[in-house]
Amino acid sequence: MSTIDSLIAAAEAHSAPTYHPLPVVVATADGAWMTDVEGRRYLDLLAGYSALNFGHGNRRLLDAARAQMERVTLTSRAFHHDRFADFCAQLAELCGMEMVVPMNTGAEAVETAVKTARKWGYRVKGVPAEMAKIVVAANNFHGRTTTIISFSTDPEARADFGPYTPGFEIVPYGDLTAMRSAMTENTVAVLLEPIQGEAGVLVPPAGYLPAVRELTRERNVLFVADEIQSGLGRTGRTFACEHEGVVPDVYVLGKALGGGIVPVSAVVSSAEVLGVFRPGEHGSTFGGNPLACAVALEVMAMLRSGEYQARAAELGEHLHRELGALTGTGRVSEVRGRGLWAGVDIHPRYGTGREICEKLMDRGVLVKDTHRSTIRIAPPLVITKEDLDWGLAQLRGVLGI
Ligand SMILES: Cc1ncc(COP(=O)(O)O)c(C=O)c1O
Repeated sequence: MSTIDSLIAAAEAHSAPTYHPLPVVVATADGAWMTDVEGRRYLDLLAGYSALNFGHGNRRLLDAARAQMERVTLTSRAFHHDRFADFCAQLAELCGMEMVVPMNTGAEAVETAVKTARKWGYRVKGVPAEMAKIVVAANNFHGRTTTIISFSTDPEARADFGPYTPGFEIVPYGDLTAMRSAMTENTVAVLLEPIQGEAGVLVPPAGYLPAVRELTRERNVLFVADEIQSGLGRTGRTFACEHEGVVPDVYVLGKALGGGIVPVSAVVSSAEVLGVFRPGEHGSTFGGNPLACAVALEVMAMLRSGEYQARAAELGEHLHRELGALTGTGRVSEVRGRGLWAGVDIHPRYGTGREICEKLMDRGVLVKDTHRSTIRIAPPLVITKEDLDWGLAQLRGVLGI
């Protein structure tokens, strides 16, 4: 048995089968490239679902992490530490908001947003106890906790995990009329991904997000934007909402905020909204820890230069031009996305998404399928144009173009 096969067999023997990874075993990584245990190199066109926007082993981020690791890594929120104030102030400023609740994973931040919206509904809006409702979109992906999967429409994500958390109304993504009809006086929030990543990089119709903004304002409902995957440079702007000139009431952030080094997530909003919490009502042992804050501060410094957003916009235009050309070949039925983020629907005749990913892997490119014959492309924003072109050439090769 090869080293790779035996490592995979051992992983399969001792880890619950919650994933079906491609048969590659990564040992090291740098920039947009990963190297396996036998020295074979792969171009990473997934970037940890956008957690690696700044690439693998980013020097600035590693230096910030190392320096912090020598000082203090964890205090818990029982005590203050000297990176916390800057982290909160700078993240609030980046979002044009006032306050932050620091958490770790994306799902925790979404849970925090759900709790925030409910508490705001009871304490500020005056919704009767236990009556708060949150409107969400079909085909959403917001994480894996019991409450979050309660409002998923993906049978795989939900089956056998009930009883489910009540209090959510599901409406079709992009359908304002359905959203309007789903709202009552007890609606406290609309929770949306400004672009639905896991659903296949679905961009809503132009004007949808501004209309949701207007409707939520009219009805005194919080607009909560889950920018965990779409935010922090991926689409060519700091936030995907910016493409439509929309500022939500609440941003939910994660993934790239931790620089691909540590899990860092946050809910960011106004003092009116996040000021509803009192000590003891919410928290996390690791949320806002010194190491997380140090890495996130460096991430924010990098974003402030605008260089990563500009790069995603410029290379993204190139990516979409190249992918768009494939739709004329009959092999690709649709391409969606913004910036360095694309969902590519392969005609089923040329294989399932998984089969395409396996063939790409054989050619040294790592991507991930989603929903049957869709592959999504989301390289680290530091990828060179040459490497991106090489990756696209491999895709054309797999499709026989
Ligand atoms: C939009 C969105 N929200 C939430 C999550 C959950 O994040 P995590 O896996 O860090 O819990 C994800 C993960 O893919 C996501 O894409």
